Amino acid sequence: MSVNTTEAVQSAFLQQQPIKMLIGGQWVEAASGKAFETIDPSTGEVLARVAEGDSEDINRAVTAARKAFESGPWPKMTPSQRGRLLWKVAELIEQHADELAQLETLDNGKPIKYSKGGDVPLTADHFRYFAGWATKIEGDTIPVSIPNMFTYSLREPLGVVGQIIPWNFPLQMASWKLAPALACGNTVVLKPAEQTPLTALRLGELICEAGFPDGVVNIVPGFGETAGAALAAHPDVDKIAFTGSTEVGKKILQASAGNLKKVTLELGGKSPNIIFSDADMKYAVRGALNAIFFNQGQVCTAGSRLFVHKSVYDQVVSGLTDAASKMKLGQGIDPATELGPVVSQEQLERVTGYIEIGRREGATPTTGGERATGDLAQGYFVRPTVFDQVRDDMTIAREEIFGPVVVAMPFEDIEEVAARANRSIYGLAAGVWTSDIKKAHKMVSLLKAGVIWVNTYNQFDAAAPFGGYKQSGYGREMGHAVLDAYT
Ligand code: NAI
Ligand code: MG
Repeated sequence: MSVNTTEAVQSAFLQQQPIKMLIGGQWVEAASGKAFETIDPSTGEVLARVAEGDSEDINRAVTAARKAFESGPWPKMTPSQRGRLLWKVAELIEQHADELAQLETLDNGKPIKYSKGGDVPLTADHFRYFAGWATKIEGDTIPVSIPNMFTYSLREPLGVVGQIIPWNFPLQMASWKLAPALACGNTVVLKPAEQTPLTALRLGELICEAGFPDGVVNIVPGFGETAGAALAAHPDVDKIAFTGSTEVGKKILQASAGNLKKVTLELGGKSPNIIFSDADMKYAVRGALNAIFFNQGQVCTAGSRLFVHKSVYDQVVSGLTDAASKMKLGQGIDPATELGPVVSQEQLERVTGYIEIGRREGATPTTGGERATGDLAQGYFVRPTVFDQVRDDMTIAREEIFGPVVVAMPFEDIEEVAARANRSIYGLAAGVWTSDIKKAHKMVSLLKAGVIWVNTYNQFDAAAPFGGYKQSGYGREMGHAVLDAYT
């Protein structure tokens, strides 16, 4: 069954030819007049045409953001007024929840039950959480030891912030970037990923409707090598916040050198998920399934290296294999779907390429290991894949695959598994499954990862700081930790 996408979404927004970009409060076409296509990954068909920003549009957007930062209503607004605007965005997101969830699912491919139940409400939450912070950004009074001296610090916005986001959680990533930057009084130029520009642009309309002054939020869709690179190198941008690949993160850092702009980076991962023999097996197997297959495995924190104690290894791998083989693949827009397509043809090739490398290096899938055929052959569907007999030094155990592919490896003791788990260029997240509280705390202290989940996985909350060790990046988002990154 193939759902007709134009019938699925009755959004006037989608009917624009092309969908425009937001610069200085105006919805405009690209200076070049160019537009690019965004694809429905469940069918390979064109969903919409979108204005294609490049360096000229980035220049216009940065100029508008600078003007809005220096003059006009924004710098004169009180913290309370800024907070109200952010709160209003949260309300508008909730009012348009169904439409946003549908757009997200069509553009990215993810199952509608997750975009409705997760992406959209968490995005609204994020704006609401940072609405509260707008009035609580405080400096210090400092008791210096110099007589007759009163010393204090002020937390001030940085200025014009460039934000570059990926395609795996387009709406949530936009909120993680926009909400704290605006709460702190910055102005923003946001570049959504070329694979998934739609929800960020629709969110831009809601931001305008909420009443943000012109130029405070500018949204320029376009490609990384053109629009993204121009933003990263721009001499009048004070800070770049980036989420994406480690490879591009390094380029962002190099580009920042020109004017020494501040940089925060949320990059890749190859996160270990570790199941001890004393774990509650029903939850651990389900947890391992969710850790890797949620969002088709396209999650920076995906539990892609599954370490299982040797005494329960066969039990866990067969339970996971069984559950994976029963997952319902389908178009995201179908409410019954549990696993949608990966985001693009490029990602499909990358993921199936890694599966081939795994086979060549001697690992064997217990389930999956191929692109879906039949009804789903037109879309970018990869069957959920579990690799058994994997060694730590295999490519599939070291590199980020960013697809529905997990590698399983047995271990014997706690020190050994911690050392193996840490032997990675990444350090974004980890999972530990055990009923022994001492073992849990011991693992938390041994593992080098920005977030460690115990007896759960992939839990995110606006109040809980998030970010990586090592080449998973630096800086923290969410919670009050992110205020350091925008003041
Ligand atoms: P990417 O890092 O190229 O794209 C992320 C964002 O950066 C997009 O908005 C893109 O337009 C922009 N970008 C690309 N090149 C740029 C440049 N030279 N200057 C400035 N901006 C640039 O990621 P891509 O190619 O979409 O995916 C490749 C791999 O990266 C994935 O397979 C996955 O392993 C990893 N990735 C990790 C993410 C995460 O959340 N940590 C998100 C997306 C991808
Ligand atoms: Mg790329």
